[in-house]
Amino acid sequence: MIRIGVIGYGYWGPNIVRNFHTHDSSEVTLVCDKNPKTQERLRKAHPGMAFTTDENEVLNSPNIDLIAVVTPVWTHYELAKAALNNGKHVFVEKPFTANVAQAEELIELAARKKLQILVDHTFLFTGAVRKIRQLVDEGVLGKLFYYDSMRVNLGLFQHDINVIWDLAPHDLAIMDYVIQKNPEAMVATGEKHLNNLVDIAFLTIYFPGNVVAHINVNWLSPVKVRTTLIGGEKKMVVWNDLEADEKIKIYDKGVSVKNGEGMYNLLVSYRSGDMWAPRVEQTEALKAEILDFLGCISANRAPINDGHAGLRVVRLLEAAEKSLQARGKLVEIDAPFSVGV
Ligand SMILES: NC(=O)c1ccc[n+]([C@@H]2O[C@H](COP(=O)([O-])OP(=O)(O)OC[C@H]3O[C@@H](n4cnc5c(N)ncnc54)[C@H](O)[C@@H]3O)[C@@H](O)[C@H]2O)c1
Repeated sequence: MIRIGVIGYGYWGPNIVRNFHTHDSSEVTLVCDKNPKTQERLRKAHPGMAFTTDENEVLNSPNIDLIAVVTPVWTHYELAKAALNNGKHVFVEKPFTANVAQAEELIELAARKKLQILVDHTFLFTGAVRKIRQLVDEGVLGKLFYYDSMRVNLGLFQHDINVIWDLAPHDLAIMDYVIQKNPEAMVATGEKHLNNLVDIAFLTIYFPGNVVAHINVNWLSPVKVRTTLIGGEKKMVVWNDLEADEKIKIYDKGVSVKNGEGMYNLLVSYRSGDMWAPRVEQTEALKAEILDFLGCISANRAPINDGHAGLRVVRLLEAAEKSLQARGKLVEIDAPFSVGV
């Protein structure tokens, strides 16, 4: 039985508590939130579960093996570092840390202490993303051309981070998992309108082999859109995460260009074949992710969304921030990247 302490019981924390507590091989022994009002919500959902407002009670408890950090991003580094220093495995929310240096330090500390870090890139455990990765790995899409995602809605405005740090970690983590290449450069543009934080942004990420990714995140959209297009030489995918059943559609569409003499002799032909929607696993992603992490801890192996995966996302967020400050200047990403499994 792996004993869990959870720090942060705001919007997302209850999902983490519920999922860790319902697994056979783990139990939540202590929940902490510095806001005492959250205790009533915990009592209703899990009567009898211990609660504290003092993070040190969780960090120092000898009866806790793993600490879940479900607090705002600027607190992740200090809490995760204290947890690792006290010999606890760490489950930490996305984005992993507020900068690259912090992420690198936590990875090094965990390795030294022989502890595991998981960064909650929840989408990697959805049936849809698993299916897309399978299509790429099996060569169904052919050579990848692009990854283009739109994650927009009205709000929720954050007070401490802009829309890139809030929403783009999801897309960057999925992109990293699907494309499996080291990005070369980033261009980010965006603007702030209401509370001095960028609320709409467009990221373009360049990869080797002419693969390009584009991510549109926006808190000021009148409608909610969660759509990603993934174009390959052989097939193209449309993933609409708001669809209840047919989340993924595969289009047998493409273009072939034959070189003639000069531009007027270019022979372009369009292929428009069938469309089909493969079956996609519908289990709760967080449940699958936590089950996987508990297995990783027992087997002493790193999860796919380990500290390195978290660092890759933070590195891109930093690059986006740099480019944004310079109104879309191209930022090279030259640091070593360990590409995901
Ligand atoms: N993986 C996902 O899909 C997903 C979804 C939502 C949020 N998140 C992430 O979860 C984290 C929390 O987001 P949220 O929306 O729940 O925020 P929130 O503000 O609703 O909740 C955070 C809670 O942490 C508490 N807290 C802050 N510092 C603390 C400390 N030192 N000790 C104890 N309690 C502390 C606050 O009182 C608050 O109740 C963020 O990193 C966010 O990016 C992830």
